[in-house]
Amino acid sequence: MTGAAPKAPGEVIEGVYLCSSFDLSDFYGAALEAYPDIRVYRPEEVPDPARIRFALVWRPAPDAFDAYPNIELVQANAAGVDGVLGNPGLPRNVTVTRVHDEEQAAIMAGFAAWHVVWHHRQMGHYIDAQRRSAWDRQTIKTLRPPSQVTVGLLGYGLMGRAIARTVASMGFPVLAASRTGGDAAKGVTRISGDDAVQRVAARSDILINIMPLTPVTRDILNAALFDRMPRGAALIQLGRGKHLVDDDLLTALDSGQIGGASLDVFQQEPLPPDHPFWRHPRILVTPHEASVTSAAAVSRELARSLRAMRAGQRPEQAVDRTTGY
Ligand code: GLV
Repeated sequence: MTGAAPKAPGEVIEGVYLCSSFDLSDFYGAALEAYPDIRVYRPEEVPDPARIRFALVWRPAPDAFDAYPNIELVQANAAGVDGVLGNPGLPRNVTVTRVHDEEQAAIMAGFAAWHVVWHHRQMGHYIDAQRRSAWDRQTIKTLRPPSQVTVGLLGYGLMGRAIARTVASMGFPVLAASRTGGDAAKGVTRISGDDAVQRVAARSDILINIMPLTPVTRDILNAALFDRMPRGAALIQLGRGKHLVDDDLLTALDSGQIGGASLDVFQQEPLPPDHPFWRHPRILVTPHEASVTSAAAVSRELARSLRAMRAGQRPEQAVDRTTGY
């Protein structure tokens, strides 16, 4: 059988889970039972590698695809696909699809909004004060209303838009760096162009990163960017660890150029126990849990991708392998 052989609707289509760090069937096996025409195997259970037409993946090993000559579609179990597109063994002509999940975006928006409040209201101070039983009214004279605190957003896809709407509805002016111009939600100003990231950062009291990781965005949260930001600004890092130059953030925190940071993603995950981020008094660490996709959503997205594939169409949530999202 060749990869191009069309499948009649209703015929079972076979795929494989590929993940270097855990057993994806534990996460998705039960939810995929709702789709009797889709069968996904663990690699060790595949009856005939030539019949495998798709893979459901999270950070697959470099040689993970080698055994399957007829893969046509690779579905990521996440919104970000850097762990797939960066795989040297990814077959050249496969379609790569990602998860498009409104619930994931809503969860992310709530998380981002919480951190905006954390930095705006200096909540770290109160947690520390409570430990000391101290009635320490830190901001009573200095608090700026949300209308005077600009929140910048790097990344304006499904999740960026959800964050922008939520944060704008709390009264913060939102500036969003976006590749293209166009309409924005109430309270949101879009800044486009090659230098949009720098222009947004230069005006952001609180900067949220939710960009995809691509060769263009790698290391983009660096000393030069921090230096452009208003002194004491906060960083909320929800994109990918490789966006951030760790040492540049530590230097900017130590000099006071950056006032505080919330970090959910890291160069190395899990974050090594001896990494200085863990113990820094002005960094709040969470373990890559800013948002999640449910097993039901991932299964639904896989079924949607395969439906398009069976119909000979390009799935709506296919990524552009040249831009990386
Ligand atoms: C999670 O990191 C995702 O990309 O969805």
